[in-house]
Amino acid sequence: MEQNRKPAGMDIVQGELDRCVEILEKNMERFGADFPSACATGGKYRIKKNDDWTNGFWTGMLWIAWLYTGKDKFRSLAMENVNSFIKRLDDHFILDHHDIGFLYSLSVGAAWKVTGQEELKEQILRAADVLAGRFQEKGGFIQAWGKLGDEKEYRLIIDSLLNLPLLYQAHEISGEQRYLDIAESHYDKVIHNIVREDYSTYHTFYFNKETGLPDHGATHQGFSDSSCWARGQAWAILGMPLHRRLSGKGFTEEETALYENICGYFEEHLPADGLPYWDLIFTDGSDQPRDSSALAIAACGMLEMGRTERAREMLAVLHSLASSAGEPESEGMLLHGVYAYAEGKGVDEPNLWGDYFYMEALYRLWDPQWNPFW
Ligand code: GLY
Repeated sequence: MEQNRKPAGMDIVQGELDRCVEILEKNMERFGADFPSACATGGKYRIKKNDDWTNGFWTGMLWIAWLYTGKDKFRSLAMENVNSFIKRLDDHFILDHHDIGFLYSLSVGAAWKVTGQEELKEQILRAADVLAGRFQEKGGFIQAWGKLGDEKEYRLIIDSLLNLPLLYQAHEISGEQRYLDIAESHYDKVIHNIVREDYSTYHTFYFNKETGLPDHGATHQGFSDSSCWARGQAWAILGMPLHRRLSGKGFTEEETALYENICGYFEEHLPADGLPYWDLIFTDGSDQPRDSSALAIAACGMLEMGRTERAREMLAVLHSLASSAGEPESEGMLLHGVYAYAEGKGVDEPNLWGDYFYMEALYRLWDPQWNPFW
């Protein structure tokens, strides 16, 4: 099938936003003050506590639904979630990892952006301090996972670009330079090490613990150490322009070229119908599953870059090949995501970030004046 090149029009944008809101309303009844799991099984999310790296996507969707509809029930549940995130900070509950930005930008950070409540500032700074606490001076990067300083975990991962906006928000609130210094140093280490010569990306990159020097790239969720995990490439496609805006520095000439080539690699490795396989090593004719969430993230990257037409084309692909409209029992908005293929987790299923970034892309188009939560 040829890629759906006809950009999604406002009828699709509005129709899909309405549909996403309906799904949220239905899901809210089942999840109450709890949270949906990271990924679905048979189209259904499990009921979980606030204990994963993905809980913020749920709260972020509630905030978008509130902005879109003005219905108070979304705001009240989002605020209830915010209290749960503050409690998670108090208890330091499952926060020994770098995904603090995914969690707090879309919950407490978004709450501050949309309500302006002053008391939230302190909580944003607390969250940013947890993230900043994982900065490794030797190497100049934020350690992604594991015990701090563990040689086997002395690495960063490409997804981390989405955690940096929290540090920029902390700088905006506090004026403290250290947040900027850490964000800049980490960003620099990501873009100068994780991109290969052909502009594909590693998922993760190790540094030598003794010298801090770059060591080697490897995968965690991709097909192999030398292949290109589709969602990883998409994290760069969104993460780089977020840094461009939030740092206030724009792109250097070198970054512009790098960015174009990273996008080029992604585009050139899309199958004819435009919906990426979960790893870009797979091409037309493969029976491997697709990852719709990678395309939703890339669409947000295009919108962050002001490339509205390309974003609309990507949304048209998602709408025609992955929207759950034809499956009214689905609790997800986007079908055909892949969480972790090797572990058999969330394969060909909805996942929370796919749903979130689909909604974010739709809402960015719906309200071009909107200041996203990142
Ligand atoms: N950040 C983890 C993932 O993209 O699956």
